[in-house]
Amino acid sequence: MSDSRPRISKAVIPAAGLGTRFLPATKATPKEMLPVVDKPAIQYVVEEAVTAGLSDVLMVTGRNKRPLEDHFDRNHELEEVLLRKGDGSRLARVQESSDLATIHYVRQGDPRGLGHAVLCAAPHVGDQSFAVLLGDDLIDPRDPLLERMIETRERYGGSVVALLEVDPAQVHLYGCAAVRPTAEDDVVEVSGLVEKPEPAEAPSNYAVIGRYVLDPAVFEVLRRTEPGRGGEIQLTDALQELARNPALGGPVHGVVFQGRRYDTGDRGDYLRAIVRLACEREDLGPDFRDWLRSYVTEEL
Ligand code: G1P
Repeated sequence: MSDSRPRISKAVIPAAGLGTRFLPATKATPKEMLPVVDKPAIQYVVEEAVTAGLSDVLMVTGRNKRPLEDHFDRNHELEEVLLRKGDGSRLARVQESSDLATIHYVRQGDPRGLGHAVLCAAPHVGDQSFAVLLGDDLIDPRDPLLERMIETRERYGGSVVALLEVDPAQVHLYGCAAVRPTAEDDVVEVSGLVEKPEPAEAPSNYAVIGRYVLDPAVFEVLRRTEPGRGGEIQLTDALQELARNPALGGPVHGVVFQGRRYDTGDRGDYLRAIVRLACEREDLGPDFRDWLRSYVTEEL
């Protein structure tokens, strides 16, 4: 592989959203901090980036997001108390999040859409390809997606989106891709993208989910991308331009994901994620599964 494609090291996590679907819980607490079992949702996402080798993380935040910074920072007072109590395992849990990665922050200011949030990362990212991870999507760590996307970028250059085949009735909730097969079963070439299409306009049932590996050429395209669906600057629209003009920054490919994914931005899926992950935990799982079994058989 040529030196012009150095390994990706930076991840961008847009985290400026208001989380209105979870009100009133998100009135004073960022939605990214809602716990999935006993860890905030955002920590799973940072862990996923780190596991894929991306230890430089930029969070694009907004007002009221200070708890995110606190969570990934040291808490000396708490650490001191746990140390004095000799509670080593909780101390380790507290230190885990501050030792994970180097985390940087930039504020979005005006909420002008996902494309605009990604553009806010331009000065930090510079001229390298980078990953974008959306906090609402939780990818099961046993089904690595980002690694496969990074490999795909190393092979074809350009940008890579994550695709999931969804029920056609759900396509209007996502960016949707027109695709052509490649020689690899789980990789497709993306020839077009539409943000949240009406069913009649949807080119397929391949939905874009919240993982992207992007060529830095996307910044130049985003700078001139006009507001689209919902009056917001859409990342999907910039990727559509890249897909149509590979001369701008290489082709766009899609990795078709078949693993476990939870949309923690949706209340039902958020609950399902908690139940599944709790069932699978070594410490909580056995008791919780017993309770769940009797609850389902006796009370539902
Ligand atoms: C965003 C993107 C959309 C993508 C989705 C994945 O939409 O704009 O293309 O399919 O994330 O979760 P949002 O869910 O923020 O409205």
